[in-house]
Amino acid sequence: MPPQEIIRKKRDRVALSDAEIAAFINAATSGDVSEGQIGAFLMATYLNGMTIDETAALTLAMRDSGRVLDWTGLGANQARLIDKHSSGGVGDEKITLLVVPLAAACGVLVPNLSGRGLDYCAGEVDMLDAIPGYQTAPPPDLFMRTVREVGGAIIGPTLDLAPADRKLFYVRDVTATVESVPLITGSILSKKLASAPRGLVISVGSGSGAYMASLDDARRLANSMAEVSARAGASSVMLVTDLDSVLGTAVGNAVGVIEAVDFLTGKHRDPRVLDLVLALTAEMVVLAGIEAEVAVAGNRAAAMLDNGGAAERFARMVEALGGPSDFLEKAARYLPAAPVVRAVFAEQRGFLAGMNAKEIGLTLVALGGGRTRPDDAIDLAVGLTGFAQVGDPVDNTNPLCMVHARDEPSFELAAKRIRAAVQIASAPAGASGPIVRERIVRRA
Ligand code: URA
Repeated sequence: MPPQEIIRKKRDRVALSDAEIAAFINAATSGDVSEGQIGAFLMATYLNGMTIDETAALTLAMRDSGRVLDWTGLGANQARLIDKHSSGGVGDEKITLLVVPLAAACGVLVPNLSGRGLDYCAGEVDMLDAIPGYQTAPPPDLFMRTVREVGGAIIGPTLDLAPADRKLFYVRDVTATVESVPLITGSILSKKLASAPRGLVISVGSGSGAYMASLDDARRLANSMAEVSARAGASSVMLVTDLDSVLGTAVGNAVGVIEAVDFLTGKHRDPRVLDLVLALTAEMVVLAGIEAEVAVAGNRAAAMLDNGGAAERFARMVEALGGPSDFLEKAARYLPAAPVVRAVFAEQRGFLAGMNAKEIGLTLVALGGGRTRPDDAIDLAVGLTGFAQVGDPVDNTNPLCMVHARDEPSFELAAKRIRAAVQIASAPAGASGPIVRERIVRRA
């Protein structure tokens, strides 16, 4: 069937067969359909959705667009292969850089395929591209060796692993087709299943900084991913999170890496980031069979963070994948820095009561830290740091955040956007609620 017939069926709300979905995904991967046709397929899917059978077929076709890793050489240790992912959120991308080394320090083996920035959320792969020498698309053998020897490795989709996601991702990024349950399910799980872990822990964001703004939509996404994972033989835990405000204090690529390094080395740990990192790691430790109880696993993870175990694994992962051996000690020297770094103050003094976190993410894109065309090169140096948290006082000494910009006009535009995106109350406003809102456990 020609690709336009497959697109027409989706446009006309006719369910696609497994073979039709596989044919379209194969053609997208090989370049036999154009970016325009991929965009049309994505928009038809965004508007009309997919049944769970179609979503599972999409996921498996995307996984099978490349190879699936074979870990049989690990013998019984294959049970410790557990991966994590996030469905995306403003500030959330740094969490993978923290959880993968922490879980590795706890004894989990983490073969992590992450994503680039997507629409208004930054992504792990762009962040890691800011580290000189770090290979985000290494040969599979190097990836597997790093997982075996260090305990974890973070890379992106490659020409061998989930290449279909690589293709679709670039088009989704700039076509307003991201916020779709089947497309997110296919994108995340194709990568997860290509690296062949035995179990998955996924944080599913809800709120203004997440692709699923409402709790109900986040639950739908969590249930879709849990069902498709189970059909593919992987047990999963979904933690539905509250991303109604910027998570942590940095938004951007190089600046996000600095926040991650500061967290791992104990220089600064945002409390909500800490809670989420420990919660995700604890679930991975339990799924790996290392501990039986989540609470006990959480204590093990906290100890590994405090004794420097996670920081050491991060440093080893960076070196193994081609980055500097002293990156942890000299991160700021290695990362690109923006020439203009200035504070943004609120228009009135008071307390931060809330924000439109998506607008904050779009501010990063406007600064040059995200893409507006699939082939855009992005500015890895720009971003936001020291973002105030809900409940914090803001006045002429306590800024909303620092903007890292390429020039003065971009700083001015970003400052204006940020001021318009936040709500300030005159009386102390309550802090954000717990980061984890719900937990969904699904055994395969
Ligand atoms: N992360 C991904 O890898 N894909 C998505 O679609 C969303 C978040």
